[in-house]
Order: sequence, then C-alpha cells, then structure tokens
Amino acid sequence: MPARKKIAIIGGDGIGPSVTEEAKKLLEIYRDKAGLPLDLWELDLGADRYLRDGTTFPKEIQIAIQRECSAVLLGALGDPRVPNLEHARDILFGMRFGYDLYANVRPVRALADRLVPLKGRTAKDVDFVVFRENTEGIYVGMGGQFKRGTPDEVAINEDLNTRKGVERIIRAAFEYARSHGKTKVTMADKSNAMRHAHELWLRVFHEVGAQYQGIEARHLYVDALCLLLVQDPSQFEVIVTNNLFGDIVTDLGAAFQGGLGMAASANVHASSPEKVTLFEPVHGSAPPLAGKDIANPFAALLTAGMLLAHLGWPEEERRIERRVTEAIEEMACTVDVGGKLGTRAAAAWVRERVASEL
Ligand SMILES: NC(=O)c1ccc[n+]([C@@H]2O[C@H](COP(=O)([O-])OP(=O)(O)OC[C@H]3O[C@@H](n4cnc5c(N)ncnc54)[C@H](O)[C@@H]3O)[C@@H](O)[C@H]2O)c1
Repeated sequence: MPARKKIAIIGGDGIGPSVTEEAKKLLEIYRDKAGLPLDLWELDLGADRYLRDGTTFPKEIQIAIQRECSAVLLGALGDPRVPNLEHARDILFGMRFGYDLYANVRPVRALADRLVPLKGRTAKDVDFVVFRENTEGIYVGMGGQFKRGTPDEVAINEDLNTRKGVERIIRAAFEYARSHGKTKVTMADKSNAMRHAHELWLRVFHEVGAQYQGIEARHLYVDALCLLLVQDPSQFEVIVTNNLFGDIVTDLGAAFQGGLGMAASANVHASSPEKVTLFEPVHGSAPPLAGKDIANPFAALLTAGMLLAHLGWPEEERRIERRVTEAIEEMACTVDVGGKLGTRAAAAWVRERVASEL
C-alpha cells in the first residue's frame, strides 16, 4: 500500500475558491475512483478569514503543512477589501519563502491553434518552460520609505541576489533540460543596466552552463527576450530568470496559451523535491470575475495535473491535459477561451471525461 499523500487546499480570494473547488473535485475522483492515496485537507485562509478574526498564516499551520503535507493546492490571493494585501503576503510568501520553494516552474504550452494570438503561429510553436527565481530579487521586501507623503519622499526596494540563490535556480533549469531531453536554456537578465546584481547572473549562468554538455546556454537581455518571444516563441525550450522578470515574462507566456485562465505553475524546492511543493494557477484572484461562475477553471485543473505528476503519477497530468485540450477543441469551455460554459460546467465536462477512463 503506497504511503498516503496529504494535500493542503487553500482556495483563497476572488475566483480562487471556485476554481480550486473544481480542482479539488478532480482530485476526489482520483482518490475515490482510481484509489490514489490522497488525503485532502481544506484550510480556511484568505481575506474572509483575515477580515473575520485577523488570521493570516498561523505558525502552527505553516509547520503542520511542512511536516505532514506533500503538496499545497492554492487558488489565488488578493482582495480589494485588504488594500495592503497583508494576508496575501503572509500566506503566499510564508510558503514560497518559508519553505524555500526557490523554483517557480511555469510551463507555457498552447493546447490548441485557435488559442495562440500570434500571427502565423500555431500551438506547436508554443512549448517552453520558465524557471522563475522565487525566493530573492526585488520581491523580498527589503527597503523602505522615507519622508512619506512629503514632496521629498523617497521609496526604495532592494534587489537581493545571492550566489547560492542564483546558482541553484540556474542549475534547476539545466537539470530540467537534461532530464526532459531539451537542448536549449536561455537566461534573461538586464546585466547591461543592472551591472552588479545581473553580472552575477551572467557569470554564474556561463559557469553552470559549461557543466552541461550538449545544452546550448543562450543569454538574452530581458527586453530582447520579450521581443523574440512575440516574434517566434518556438526558438525557446527552457527560460530561466529572476523573480520580477519571471513574473512578467510568464504573463506574456500565458497570453500565448489563451490567457491566464490556461496557465499552471508549481513552486518547488528543486534540489529536494520530496519537500512540500506549492501548486497554483498563474492567475490572480480576478475580483471582477468572482462569484459569477465565469472564471476559467482549466488553469486550476492543469495545476492539479502538475501536482499529480509531482506526486508520482505523470500519466495523469497528460490525461488531464488531453481532456482539457478536447474541451477547448469542442468549445466546452468558458468565455475567455471562446466557449459558453460556466466555471462549474466546463470543469465538470473535463472531470467526466477523465472519470470515464479511470
Ligand atoms: N499568486 C497569486 O495569488 C496572485 C497572482 C497574481 C495576482 N494576484 C492578485 O490578484 C488580484 C488581481 O490581480 P490582477 O487583476 O492583476 O491579475 P489577475 O490574474 O487576477 O487578472 C488579470 C486578468 O486576467 C483575467 N483572468 C485571470 N484569471 C482568469 C481566469 N481563471 N479566467 C478568466 N480570466 C481570468 C482577469 O479577468 C484579468 O482581466 C490582485 O490582488 C493581485 O495582487 C495574486
């Protein structure tokens, strides 16, 4: 009997709870019909909870997840009722930074030609993975404000880059390339303008790249990367970059996939994958869509697929992706990707096809 895998589930805010509910139902089918040893643990965390009793991410929950869980499935965080996003930062960064999940892995794969908005390009041209550094950079919150609210106001955010942090994300990208039969790794920085921090990236990239025979190590400035991605995404296989650039580049990538409703991601401690891993759709909480049954649930379903692959069932990730592809082809999808179904109906369509095969 394989060991049971405990999965913490946090719907979060906005559209997060509704798309996560659909992904949870998919995992329940795997548990109940296919007999996968999954224990699902729903946590009441997010803006509602914060506004109710001030709770963001209690230490005991943080520790329990680390000790007991194989994975976390998160919807999204961010609510206009909490303008400083205190709860969102505590929960999301509490996991990304707290569990040292340094690799934010974001596959950019288009599932159907009609979803690709680039002139003359089809789905086969869009198939690359972005490794975004997830624990450093400008998102660590170092800095401050001085003379706030006066005409002399100063605001500073520091861009933190350590040798260890830069090297391990670059190595993770090369290791991924090697283990997935890829031959091209591109690193994007801005070392021409950010001469201290990004010179470190460039130097380490060349050092690490030299250790991977047969894999082309290509360096681009991030602005050039954006241009080339739009002109011809098919030239990229694995892209590695820092926290800020990775955040931006993967929204661009999501546009090639049909929008944020189609983009899945994982936050991994790549050199110790047995540690708890955080899975989340790339999209945010999209407050204007919340509670209307119109958000696209496919990013969340594809994210559940990544989770199953990570836990040892890679064929189920492929199965879910195939069924989502069929849904797109048969227009059994939400309005953002050209269909007429609501969140629940589109997700149910995919789940029924998956369930019929198990
Ligand atoms: N990891 C996270 O939890 C995360 C990530 C990004 C943004 N946020 C937060 O989410 C809130 C809203 O941010 P935003 O508007 O910049 O980004 P967003 O991803 O919520 O929305 C951006 C655009 O994409 C569309 N969209 C997103 N998800 C969709 C889906 N599943 N189906 C259909 N359309 C979808 C939205 O309607 C909007 O037009 C903010 O509070 C932000 O901080 C959270």
